[in-house]
Amino acid sequence: MKEGTIQSLKGKVVVVTGASRGIGRATALYFAKEGAKVVGAARSTDQLETLVQEICKNGGEATWVGIDITKPEDSQRMVKEALDRYGAIDVLVNNAGVGWVAPVTEHPLEQWHRVIDTDLNGVFYAIKAVLPSMIERKAGHIINISSVNGKRAGANWGAYVPTKFALTGLGDMVQLEVKEQRIKVTTVYVGGVATGFRDSFDRRYVRAPQPPQPGAPPPDPRLTVDDVAECIVSCAQMGLSPTSVLTEVTLNSWGLIR
Ligand SMILES: NC(=O)c1ccc[n+]([C@@H]2O[C@H](COP(=O)([O-])OP(=O)(O)OC[C@H]3O[C@@H](n4cnc5c(N)ncnc54)[C@H](OP(=O)(O)O)[C@@H]3O)[C@@H](O)[C@H]2O)c1
Repeated sequence: MKEGTIQSLKGKVVVVTGASRGIGRATALYFAKEGAKVVGAARSTDQLETLVQEICKNGGEATWVGIDITKPEDSQRMVKEALDRYGAIDVLVNNAGVGWVAPVTEHPLEQWHRVIDTDLNGVFYAIKAVLPSMIERKAGHIINISSVNGKRAGANWGAYVPTKFALTGLGDMVQLEVKEQRIKVTTVYVGGVATGFRDSFDRRYVRAPQPPQPGAPPPDPRLTVDDVAECIVSCAQMGLSPTSVLTEVTLNSWGLIR
């Protein structure tokens, strides 16, 4: 086997946005398990505190920063606090995100803007904040969490579809801009995961699970937050390779393969 593709994250500094619950929380825990120093960011500071306590209890190292990703100054503060504490940021996982479902004709404008502010503008603010330190060190890895909705549109997903499509363009563009500094950008397209992501959605437009048909095989299991967390951590491990660049990954469950 060629040496150098899968490397250790021990001691690496990883910032995870949206770490208070769901995919981000699981990802923070997996990074810590691999020996990384984790900076968890989100608005729910109580949940971040609990995450950090859990990591530290298990012998890991972590801290949290309370941020609203829709505010550019919060991303600047997140990066500053991470750099002040750990001296460098090796990996930024842009995971914080929200969604809303409704047909375009009924889509509330405030939800349209909230999704774009969080899932696209928020990612831009975090990248803009972290890049100067990565450029200076000529090292770093940015992992943007997109969705299968960012590759193939699903009906009624409103601003979520165009924002996740836009992450592809943003990631590809940034990768070209920082190629010379050997900074890597990976887009991860994730299929449906059971988290609280859909809890606040307007129930009129959420597809109800189909009742099992007599004699039909059991439905395919969905992805879990652990599946996604392992995938993101694997991307970061591959990101340490001096030769390869992982530009995109799609993580599906069996039922999502078409
Ligand atoms: N669940 C799925 O089926 C699925 C599928 C594909 C892709 N994804 C993507 O995976 C990512 C995480 O989703 P999830 O399922 O884990 O959702 P989730 O359980 O609802 O968690 C969302 C996270 O984003 C944070 N967040 C939301 N708005 C924020 C803001 N303004 N500022 C800072 N943090 C904010 C939340 O923290 P606070 O509320 O504490 O701020 C929370 O930690 C999202 O980008 C989503 O698009 C999810």
